[in-house]
Amino acid sequence: MADVSTPVAQPVGGLLTRAAIFLVMTVNPGPEASTAVRSLCGDLAALLRAVGFRDLGGRLSCILGMDLCFELATQIMAKLEHAVAPVDEVHGFRFFDARDLLGFVDGTENPTGQAVVDATLIGAEDPSFAGGSYVIVQKYLHDMAGWNALPTEAQERIIGRTKLSDIELDETVKPSWAHSALTVIEEGGKEIKILRDNMPFGQVGQGEFGTYFIGYSRSPRTIEQMLENMFVGRPPGNYDRILDFSRAVTGNLFFVPSATFLEEVTPDAQPLAAEPLAASPAAEPSQSISPMPDGSLGIGSLKGNPR
Ligand code: HEM
Repeated sequence: MADVSTPVAQPVGGLLTRAAIFLVMTVNPGPEASTAVRSLCGDLAALLRAVGFRDLGGRLSCILGMDLCFELATQIMAKLEHAVAPVDEVHGFRFFDARDLLGFVDGTENPTGQAVVDATLIGAEDPSFAGGSYVIVQKYLHDMAGWNALPTEAQERIIGRTKLSDIELDETVKPSWAHSALTVIEEGGKEIKILRDNMPFGQVGQGEFGTYFIGYSRSPRTIEQMLENMFVGRPPGNYDRILDFSRAVTGNLFFVPSATFLEEVTPDAQPLAAEPLAASPAAEPSQSISPMPDGSLGIGSLKGNPR
């Protein structure tokens, strides 16, 4: 029998779409902005249903063709107009057989099936946030002239796979500084996977060629360890040569709440208690919409911190 108390996750493990819009925004100061953003949390599922229904084959999802994405982003911005300040907007697209702009197939070693759930969704280790996930995004720009000047074999050693056929290089020839060597994390003899939804983006006329890195994980520690291996090196100094041709111009860690969690966000920023507060003046209406003292949206308080 289904456990009704199990939170429903957002479609973190959904298949890669043909297009995506990455909107990064900061919430403006003030209680009105906070209320608008918190309202959207609960409204998002309905908005997604409304736009997605216009083309059922389009597989619209909101951690996600360009027409549906564009329409959804427009609707979201219309609701948030004065509440947020856009920081970055990137339109990603699928490039041939899921290749990045460096020309390599990107996403091959992603987990599939149940392994996606195991890799990405928070479980019993943090029950209050079960069904949630963490996502790290980084916008990378590539030096295409430098990269294209390398012989294919040198590019293959940097990635650790063959370019045309996407076959992993043999351990005897794959350098320890290859991208696909430094990003393998093992704990107790077991590989800890993440889910990557990288997408190419760019503007040919501007000479901009990039990869929008998106990595989902049930703990941010895994991706942070990968980043440390790439940038600092494993051991230190033995860094990822992909970085000689790619630089990260943004980087953020976000918490991805479960769909159930999102729907429970109320416009009122008062902390919610998980359990009814016996003998407390619970009937007291939460009259005023007061901002959280720490300036946050107060969404974390849905965890049910006792007042
Ligand atoms: C410039 C940005 C990046 C590009 C172009 C890129 C590209 C690639 C390519 C082509 C592969 C090999 C095929 C595959 O298994 O998907 C790969 C593997 C992988 N990448 Fe990246 N990547 C980038 C950044 C990152 C970052 C920032 C991380 C993590 C912090 C990461 C984690 C991984 C992992 C875990 C694998 C699979 C390794 C394996 O199991 O063999 N990548 N990447």
